[in-house]
Amino acid sequence: MTLPGKVRLVEVGPRDGLQNEKQIVPTTIKLELIDRLGACGLKTIEATAFVSPKWVPQMADSADVIHGLMHANARRNGVSYPALVPNMQGLEAALAAGANEIAVFGAASEAFSHKNINCSIAESLDRFRPVVAAAREANIKVRGYVSCVLGCPYQGAVAPLAVADVGWQLFEMGCYEISLGDTIGTGTPEATKEMINAVARRVPLKKLAGHFHDTYGMAIANIYAALELGVAVFDASVAGLGGCPYAVGASGNVATEDVVWLLQGLGIETGIDIVALAETGDWICRQLGRETGSKAARALLAGRLA
Ligand code: HMG
Ligand code: MG
Repeated sequence: MTLPGKVRLVEVGPRDGLQNEKQIVPTTIKLELIDRLGACGLKTIEATAFVSPKWVPQMADSADVIHGLMHANARRNGVSYPALVPNMQGLEAALAAGANEIAVFGAASEAFSHKNINCSIAESLDRFRPVVAAAREANIKVRGYVSCVLGCPYQGAVAPLAVADVGWQLFEMGCYEISLGDTIGTGTPEATKEMINAVARRVPLKKLAGHFHDTYGMAIANIYAALELGVAVFDASVAGLGGCPYAVGASGNVATEDVVWLLQGLGIETGIDIVALAETGDWICRQLGRETGSKAARALLAGRLA
């Protein structure tokens, strides 16, 4: 077993982390969060979602967020700011705002697909195909998500082959990377490996990313299992912010600080300043009036204050 020497972290806090927040977070706070995350060394920061404001009110300022990043000298060199896009309407709005990367998001579970984006898996893929083609035509990179890869809140078990099939279709239509989402965090390490092995038979392993929610406290164990297979890209959310509005009870993503702590301990390069990241998590938690979900951040900051 050889672990990867280097891992890229995709920070999803400003989107996945905030989308479920009840109080509307001001755009200026979102922009400051994104800027601080960039200063910590994160190179991919998922900024927002061009989705229906009726479905996800917190993302209603998506155009302002992207416009603020792209047109106010706020954009950092070499940083990509993907925005979720569910359909052509979303793509047009993302392009008009100046987005430099988008992500389409499908699911391996029929029930979740209906609840989340109001269509079947097949309909979603038909919808994404022209979106991906038009984005690529405009020189915009497209990431692809598959949700419910290790379980669905509505239909329970999800077959690894179903995940592999959706992952393959997204890859084949032009997504440069496929992020495998354990939306409700029910996965455990052996199930994670079985699922990733099934997907890697269809999509090259180097094109896969892990997106683990920490609802059952298994995210770090699952990341380690994925690392053992050679996966070298993981999504995470500063301070463990988040939850999915269409997966009741789903907690936040694994905390970015905890993942960086794990990777540092394994001697894996991330390019991220963990102390600055813990401070950023502390800052956004104060803005939201909540506790951090990161044990590493809590310990690091407590140690510094002691
Ligand atoms: P729909 O109701 O079927 O859409 O929703 P529609 O095409 O029938 O349009 C209905 C209304 O929505 C119209 O407005 C459209 O203009 C508007 P009205 O005439 O009623 O005023 N609309 C839009 N508005 C803004 N942006 C758009 C857009 N499209 C239509 N792009 C739709 C379908 C996909 C729009 C809806 O279901 C939706 O927005 N869903 C988003 C759900 C979401 O954001 N979920 C969270 C993100 S996914 C996630 O968290 C999982 C992930 O983290 C991975 C993991 O953890 O597994 C990625
Ligand atoms: Mg998620």
